[in-house]
Amino acid sequence: MNSREALILGIESSCDETAAAVVAGGQRILSSVIASQVDIHRKYGGVVPELASREHLRQIVPVVREALEQAHVALPDLDAIAVTQGPGLIGALLVGVTYGKVLALALGKPLIAVNHLEGHVHAVLLEAHAAGRRPEFPAVCLIVSGGHTIIFRVKSEGVNGTARFFYARIGGTRDDAAGEAYDKVARMLALGYPGGPVIDQLAAHGNPKALRFGEPKMKGNPFDFSFSGIKTAVLYHLRKSPELQQEIEARQQALARGDRSAETMRRLSSSATLDLIASFQHAVVEDLVTRTLAAAAQEAAHTVLVSGGVAANSALRASFAAEAQRRGLEAFFPSRALSTDNAAMIAAAGYPRFMAGEHEDASLDPKANLPLG
Ligand code: KG4
Ligand code: ZN
Repeated sequence: MNSREALILGIESSCDETAAAVVAGGQRILSSVIASQVDIHRKYGGVVPELASREHLRQIVPVVREALEQAHVALPDLDAIAVTQGPGLIGALLVGVTYGKVLALALGKPLIAVNHLEGHVHAVLLEAHAAGRRPEFPAVCLIVSGGHTIIFRVKSEGVNGTARFFYARIGGTRDDAAGEAYDKVARMLALGYPGGPVIDQLAAHGNPKALRFGEPKMKGNPFDFSFSGIKTAVLYHLRKSPELQQEIEARQQALARGDRSAETMRRLSSSATLDLIASFQHAVVEDLVTRTLAAAAQEAAHTVLVSGGVAANSALRASFAAEAQRRGLEAFFPSRALSTDNAAMIAAAGYPRFMAGEHEDASLDPKANLPLG
């Protein structure tokens, strides 16, 4: 076997996406299949854990089969199986971990446990490497999604097949994740679920400076975040603005008809609402960028990595790119497809562990609060 081309099957089931992927040599994606449950959770405005587990059970076999077919790889060709151990919803994780364990055992292949957050870091590194770019370390990584908002220092030793990665947590949210704030604000405004993509599009049509949301006042770690305050500020603003109620109802009716398009939402939004949306996004983006770049300065980092569902946000990307450049740092983002949960990032994160011989046995258990670093 050419070790650079080790074939790893990645399995991801930590939240509301059932995903499987085959990655060669830690960076060549042969397939990446994702079954999203967003349509199932939409009517609840968030992920319902019991429904997520049930859906993972339904999807895991066909999704893995599809990933192998698309990659033109048969089970015996695999060198290892990498599975998300945590953090995430315990019932959801249990499906992927159990399936991965059984598959590894039946095939006599090594089983690799991957931290979901490490997966998000590798989503960025995988694509950077595939494009021939070599991010310099130490790096600072912001993982920002519906479930996480957390800053890590990432160090790397060795190269290619022998590289090892080391993580230390620098800060993180004390309450809501940034994506959760997007989703909750979208719910208050009746913009549909998930809220991030539609707010991203509508914010471009409002004035980001129309309303000022004060920065969260927090003692202690300057690299911690808090997004519950801004969510409450939006709620109070809506209570003070009864004239916005009618358009909220009109949008609710559009959603009930199944019309969730950003064009419809824009047509049914007054300039006051668009300003509110733009100002909310501006405050969140500014907070994410400022604290992450301050962490990069403290760590003397050369590189900033941004990953997770909210990393798809256009204002966040533009602001990070501009501010990092001003400071002589390089900023890396995954493509939109690899920003959100997927299994290619799990296979890629499993590769250095596989090369180092870090295998698990049948006693591997999922962990809802698995820390990284
Ligand atoms: O990484 P992800 O797929 O799942 C979690 O692990 O949470 O992230 C989903 C989150 C949702 O909260 C969604 O609203 C947000 O990412 N999101 C965005 C954008 N696209 C997705 N937030 C802001 N702007 C976007 N373009
Ligand atoms: Zn995630």
